[in-house]
Amino acid sequence: MTSDTGVLDVDALFEAAAAVRERAYAPYSQFKVGAAIRGAGGGLHVGCNVENAAYPSGTCAEEAAIAAMIAAGETRIAAIAVLGSGDTPVTPCGACRQRIREFGAPTTAIHAGCAGGARRSLVLEGLLPHAFGPDLLARAAEP
Ligand code: THU
Repeated sequence: MTSDTGVLDVDALFEAAAAVRERAYAPYSQFKVGAAIRGAGGGLHVGCNVENAAYPSGTCAEEAAIAAMIAAGETRIAAIAVLGSGDTPVTPCGACRQRIREFGAPTTAIHAGCAGGARRSLVLEGLLPHAFGPDLLARAAEP
């Protein structure tokens, strides 16, 4: 198994995202999302959106997949696939782009897909240019 963005791994990531998307809890939006991360160490980590009657308490699929990755002991994202509803590939929301930035790199692959079948592959830098990240905090702490 490769940990980069090879075609076979992209298919495996979308397959995992589709499986976990089935378990999404989205009774309010009816917009089910599944996410699958390939960790830099080779691990596969999945998550789905979990909504709440108190709407702002809902969580995103990417957020859940990142939490699963951290819980599994991995800290670097090599690639992530996000599979949403509808006919347009679903890219991560702004907050999730920042969450991916924490554990990814400017070149981290983000594969967006949707139930309709369309796909689009991007890199984090394209979705979150001039990002704030942990490297900037580390530099600011220098004397
Ligand atoms: N959602 C995600 O889980 N990930 C995204 O990238 C976009 C939006 C969820 C949040 C909410 O449960 C539903 O989709 C509609 O916004």
